[in-house]
This record gives sequence, structure tokens and C-alpha cells, in this order.
Amino acid sequence: RTTAVILAGGTGQRVGLSIPKQLLKIAGKAVIEHTLATFEKADSIDEIIVLMAPGYVPDVEKIVAKAGFKKVRAILEGGSTRNETTERAIAALGEGLADGEDVNVLFHDAVRPLLSQRVIDDCVTALERYQAVDVAIPSADTIIVTRTHGEDGEFITEIPDRSRLRRGQTPQAFKLSTIRRAYEVAAGDPNFQATDDCTVVLRYLPDVPIHVVAGDEYNMKVTQPVDVFIADKLFQLASSATPEQNGEEVYRELLTGKTLVVFGG
Ligand code: CTP
Repeated sequence: RTTAVILAGGTGQRVGLSIPKQLLKIAGKAVIEHTLATFEKADSIDEIIVLMAPGYVPDVEKIVAKAGFKKVRAILEGGSTRNETTERAIAALGEGLADGEDVNVLFHDAVRPLLSQRVIDDCVTALERYQAVDVAIPSADTIIVTRTHGEDGEFITEIPDRSRLRRGQTPQAFKLSTIRRAYEVAAGDPNFQATDDCTVVLRYLPDVPIHVVAGDEYNMKVTQPVDVFIADKLFQLASSATPEQNGEEVYRELLTGKTLVVFGG
């Protein structure tokens, strides 16, 4: 059994709108509706739970009712950090499980609405062998590590070998028992700090291998104002697909030069 957890507890400070960015309409639908539709459609996903920014649960309830999504089992409030939101999801998922029973769980950022079916399926397949799975893509940019020296500003301390660097996306997929155990150990660390869930496994269950599934450039996170524009363009591209194609395929054709699409045209 596999549950998708949609992490939507944030308010999108960096995009800076008066509503959480997951409610922003892109290509005629709220960002979170696109995300939910992708999991609703996935054969490998049995049910979905949503953790929404406090005060906005009714907005998601309306979206789910109107779209008629059948897999959404619960819409709850998120926590004050992304990790707290994950912990609430873990607690909700544990309810009703028999002793020793385990399930697969995929945590996905609500604000990555362009996730492909291929990535979802690869995560679920990887959970047949591994207890923890991340999704990542190579980094086109050189990544530098810096330290700040007071008023003099930032200085480079390290430039890691780019060929080994990856940019982490979501979903991050786990056996529920594994991610629960990781958070239990983390609870004993007064300096606990993380921005994703694989970090929690890596740090607190160091013996658990975390398998990496190839992500997709298309699976962007709407984070900065410019991303709203880019996501909108990518959805336009997806909507030009024939019924047999999905957006990812159209995008690939664009990249390989088979389709001519003029951005902004
Ligand atoms: N998230 C969450 N609970 C939080 C904070 C974030 O579930 N307390 C979710 C966001 O809703 C988003 C995902 O984690 O889907 C990725 O986080 P990010 O892009 O950082 O979202 P925000 O926290 O909303 O953005 P910002 O940091 O700009 O405020």
C-alpha cells in the first residue's frame, strides 16, 4: 500500500503573494490541484493525504470536491516547519495500522506541480528494494560552499566536484517504519535542523542506504516569483500535447528540437 503525502504547510514567503503559493492559479488551476491530479492519476498510488497551511484547509477541500479526486483520504493542517509538517503526516499515517504492518509513503512538495508519472513509478518500484529513496538531478551550476566573515561578506571555503553533486527534488519515498524511526531519533537531538526528509534518515539512521532515482528538470519547485512565469510556460507546453503525449514528452521533443515552440510567443 502506498500513500502520497502532499506537503503544503508553507506560506510561500519568497514568492511573496497574499495567499500561499500552492493556491496560486497557473494555467487555470491552483498549483496544488495540478499536483493532486498527478497523484490521483498514478496507478501506483492508493491514497493521498494533504497537509495544508493553517487557515487554508477549506480551500483544499473545495478544490478536491470540485475536481472529484477520489484518493484524498485526509486534509490536515501542516506544522510551522516543513519537518513538523512531515511529522504530523507520519502520526496520521500510523493511525489504524496493525502492529508490524508497514506501508510506503511518498512525501511531495505541493509546489512541484509538474512531477511526471515516471518519477512516481520509479520511486514506488525502488521501495521494493530500499527503505529510503530520494529524487535528484545533476547540477548545471557549479556549487560553492561559503562562510560569512562579518561585514566583509562571503568567501569560498570549498568547491565540491560538480560531477558528484545533485539537486534534490521530491518525492522522497520511505517505508513508513523507517522515516518514523528516523524522526524518533531526531527528537532526541536538541540541535535538530533540516529542510527535507532524507537528511533526517541520513543523519539519524546512518546505516540505511538512501537510493537515488533520476529526477527531471521539468519537476521544478515554484519558489521565486520568476518560477510562476516558468511554470506557466511549461503548462502551456503540456497543454499543446496530443492525448497520447504527456507534458514531459512534449518538453523532451522541444529539447531534442522535434517541436518548435517559441517561448513568450
Ligand atoms: N512546507 C510545509 N510546511 C511548512 C513549510 C513548507 O509543508 N511549514 C511545504 C511547502 O508548502 C512546499 C514545500 O514544503 O510545498 C517546499 O517548501 P518551500 O518551497 O520552502 O515552501 P514555503 O515554505 O511555502 O516557501 P518560503 O520558504 O518561500 O516561505
